Amino acid sequence: MSKISAAITAVGAYVPEYVLTNQILETMVDTNDEWITSRTGIKERRILKEEGKGTSYLAIKAAQNLIDKKGLDPKNIDLVIVATATPDMKAASTAAFTASNIGAVNAFTFDLDAACSSFLFGMSVAAKYIESGSYKNVLLVGADKMSSLINYKDRTTCIIFGDGAGAVLFQPNEEGLGLQDEYLRSDGSGREFLQATYGGSSFPITPEVLEKGGQYAFQEGQTVFKNAVFNMADSTVKILERNRLTNNDVDWLVAHQANKRIIDATARRIDLEDKKVMMNIHKYGNTTSATLPLLLHDYESQLQKGDNLIFAAFGGGFNWGAIYLKWAYNSLTN
Ligand code: UT7
Repeated sequence: MSKISAAITAVGAYVPEYVLTNQILETMVDTNDEWITSRTGIKERRILKEEGKGTSYLAIKAAQNLIDKKGLDPKNIDLVIVATATPDMKAASTAAFTASNIGAVNAFTFDLDAACSSFLFGMSVAAKYIESGSYKNVLLVGADKMSSLINYKDRTTCIIFGDGAGAVLFQPNEEGLGLQDEYLRSDGSGREFLQATYGGSSFPITPEVLEKGGQYAFQEGQTVFKNAVFNMADSTVKILERNRLTNNDVDWLVAHQANKRIIDATARRIDLEDKKVMMNIHKYGNTTSATLPLLLHDYESQLQKGDNLIFAAFGGGFNWGAIYLKWAYNSLTN
């Protein structure tokens, strides 16, 4: 029997309706469209405004979209992983709630948090369950309500992040398609530069913390930027070299959408033409765990069976890496 590889066989997505444009942000903080566009490439982002709705709402919508498109019976899903940095609550996983709401009654579930690399690391985990031969349908959802962590008076973060969700289905493949190789790394000494500190076990929320806005995310932008540029490019080069691929062999770069300048730098490092670089940061900003599946969703109709996709991400922790995956279907015939 040929080796089982883990292929993506369906994609779904959801973004909230409310559009927060650069023009609206100009009325909220001291910023302007020209600065945001030239420094980040972002024009607008989506925000989940409705009271009481959190990350599971986004995850359920994206998963349901995938189920409807694929015509999948949710009872056949074995495992639901929700990759997220903004779970609904601290205990009781967002994945369990998501699975129940989509009718995945035969699945086990868990959340996975590696900040902006959550979905990338989730791809690795999902693939392992398929490659083991024990599971046939693994649903990986990347969902984040970043607006729940953002101080809309802080111009260094509020211009970047948005809310959204994307989902992919991993299934066994015996044609050698799907996940080929991965290079994943973490460095905890980087955590001081990007974090949402308070509310965790080491840093309880107190009235004093709330007073100074400690419940919100904080980043030292330039340090994160430099580390992101170096590590995303470096892991992309490593994955190409390890698999003896040249830029001509790469059909698509699927890079985390945090800043257009970081994505451009990664593409330049491997001398990749712009048309092979998936980009939707202008529409959604940085949706953390949702950027990679949202890209797949937006470009799905252009993907061909056998295409070589290189995924790359960098985020808080620090966590980063690259994954090489061969696309498994032509969307029009799937
Ligand atoms: O998803 C993974 C995690 N996140 C990232 O990968 C993000 C990485 N970092 C970045 O994308 C960039 O560092 C930012 C977009 C956050 C900031 O861009 P930058 O080019 O690094 O700006 P900067 O922090 O060096 O600031 C440059 C100037 C400063 O003014 P002065 O001191 O030169 O007068 C800032 O005060 O721009 C000012 N500035 C702004 N101006 C208008 C900072 N934020 C804003 C703003 N609007 N929103």
